[in-house]
Amino acid sequence: EIKAVIFDLDGVLTDTAEYHYQSWKKLAQEEGISFTREDNEQLRGVTRRQSLEILLKGKTLPEDKMEELMVKKNEYYQELINNITMEDLIPGVEELLNQLQEDGYKLAVASASRNARTVIENLEIGKKFQLIADGYSVKNNKPAPDLFLYAAEELEVEPEECIVIEDAESGIEAALAAGMHTVGIGPEERVGQADFRYDKIKDIKLADIVQ
Ligand code: G6P
Ligand code: MG
Repeated sequence: EIKAVIFDLDGVLTDTAEYHYQSWKKLAQEEGISFTREDNEQLRGVTRRQSLEILLKGKTLPEDKMEELMVKKNEYYQELINNITMEDLIPGVEELLNQLQEDGYKLAVASASRNARTVIENLEIGKKFQLIADGYSVKNNKPAPDLFLYAAEELEVEPEECIVIEDAESGIEAALAAGMHTVGIGPEERVGQADFRYDKIKDIKLADIVQ
């Protein structure tokens, strides 16, 4: 029996995947590194440091330079997310959250981002969630199951009583490793491992996934 629904944030509730892309792109241009929208697909659900490592394509830099680049990227990103409003909720999200709330499910956000709280505050959806687990909550990030297991523990439900909604391959992997039910949002090649897959969040049929 499903008791809780755990949402990823970036790319699920709002399209911050685009803002992450624009910030990395700006940094890459300054550093003379090529970086395309397609490359960005690999960064979904991946931590800031791992994203930088992927961007550098295996090139290693001294630690202080790594730090400097991560700080810069985050500054660019924060400039963009400052302008987020409730208008930036992905179509279908508000209706889905309202329905789940009405049906009595516990709701949580589990995001690898350290900016998750700002984004949620700007979207004005914080009150809908019993828990916000973010990039500060656990040490090992997705694809490790830790963040989702932490969320289940805090919500006082068992992993098998949770559904995770994710747009990232690493996120689906993490949720499966946690022993949770999974809904993937996006193309087959990205989230095909999920129990259910939809192109868009507004396509979700609640009766199918909450059984
Ligand atoms: C999410 C996004 C990633 C991002 C990560 C860390 O998982 O999907 O693209 O790199 O969070 O975000 P942060 O805001 O802490 O840099
Ligand atoms: Mg995501």
